[in-house]
Amino acid sequence: MAKLTVRDLDVRGKRVFLRVDYNVPLEEKDGQMVITDDTRIVATLPTLKLLIEKGGKLILTAHLGRPKGKRDVTMSLKPVAARLSALLGKPVTFVDDCIGDKVEKAVAAMKDGDVVLLENVRYYNEEEENDPAFAEKLAKVADVYVNDAFGAAHRAHASTEGVARVVAKRGGKCAAGLLMERELKFLGDELDRPARPFVVILGGAKVSDKIKVIDRLLEKADVLLIGGAMAYTFRLAQGYKTGKSLVEPDKTDTARAALEKAKAKKVKFLLPVDDVIAVPVKTDKLDKKGKPVIEYQNARTSTDMNCPDDAAGLDIGIGTIKAYSAEIAKAKTILWNGPMGLFENKQFAIGTNAIALAVADATRKNGAKSIIGGGDSVKALNRAKLGDKVTFMSTGGGASLEFLEGAVLPGVAALSDKSI
Ligand code: 3PG
Ligand code: MG
Repeated sequence: MAKLTVRDLDVRGKRVFLRVDYNVPLEEKDGQMVITDDTRIVATLPTLKLLIEKGGKLILTAHLGRPKGKRDVTMSLKPVAARLSALLGKPVTFVDDCIGDKVEKAVAAMKDGDVVLLENVRYYNEEEENDPAFAEKLAKVADVYVNDAFGAAHRAHASTEGVARVVAKRGGKCAAGLLMERELKFLGDELDRPARPFVVILGGAKVSDKIKVIDRLLEKADVLLIGGAMAYTFRLAQGYKTGKSLVEPDKTDTARAALEKAKAKKVKFLLPVDDVIAVPVKTDKLDKKGKPVIEYQNARTSTDMNCPDDAAGLDIGIGTIKAYSAEIAKAKTILWNGPMGLFENKQFAIGTNAIALAVADATRKNGAKSIIGGGDSVKALNRAKLGDKVTFMSTGGGASLEFLEGAVLPGVAALSDKSI
């Protein structure tokens, strides 16, 4: 059933408890935490502006990182309040707690259209535990609940689920924000009734991460294009040697089952016809996590389905790029999730960038609807400066994946149904 949205709400003079996903990447610069990508903040502006216009008092709550119940200044939402204020062009009051007196005082001082941002809700363990007493404490300043945090909607936490239950029990309304509504439209409705051909591009490291999505999309798609390291688990399943490529030997049965299902459903299931391979060598240098930096030597394209013992497959080759681009060019609906190779390394970003370009071209030339399912594929598109050349980019990572798997997201389930 369709969920109530902010459009349906009368919020004038009401306290709107608004859950957003401001889990943005931060970097320390000269002792200050600096936001390196504000996409998730920008994505909530339509909801905020609408609710401000409608005269609500906006109390924003969010998490940042995984502080595990402790106050950690590197995960404070304070820098987010400053950025949000700049983007909105109006003051945003930051409260350095998410429950208690400080919050109640700040909220009592609010006028219609004011905005308050509360401190990281995960400074309390009770958030992730979805503790009912904690949800009650959060709900103390809520007349209405709005969830615009699609990226966190797969979590049944106090601020994404518990509070909604409390507000609903009191007879208050719980609605989806405009971003949440858009995410559900593009990742849900649009893919349920896709214009055909419907081409799905799936990449990433592991078959195990994507198998449920593959299984579900085999019911809907006309073409599936596989890239990334997970392609090598399929190769292994077909009896080829995979050298030092990242593989999941215990998932070859799963891979074989997917290939068989594709055949039975008459879905065109394409695997790479060539690869960029290289010899990984451990160096003495350590990365940020203290692991040895790997250098890749003797990178080259190989059309041999067997990978040499000392080499790893790291990107799709030019033949695959051509074959996949040709399928993408015919598409009317495109869903892309997961990079085609180790794109963080420039040497192995060519395949991912070429697919990004093919998707952007199909969108512009064919009017194809292109939907990017969050996470690394969004990063890749943004790096290639093609982010605005696709129809929709999800702000969710894990949430998009779970939603595409067909899961009911707890943060969505807790919202009020639209009355007919
Ligand atoms: C995310 O970035 O994946 C969401 O904000 C959810 O965060 P989590 O994975 O730490 O729950
Ligand atoms: Mg996550």
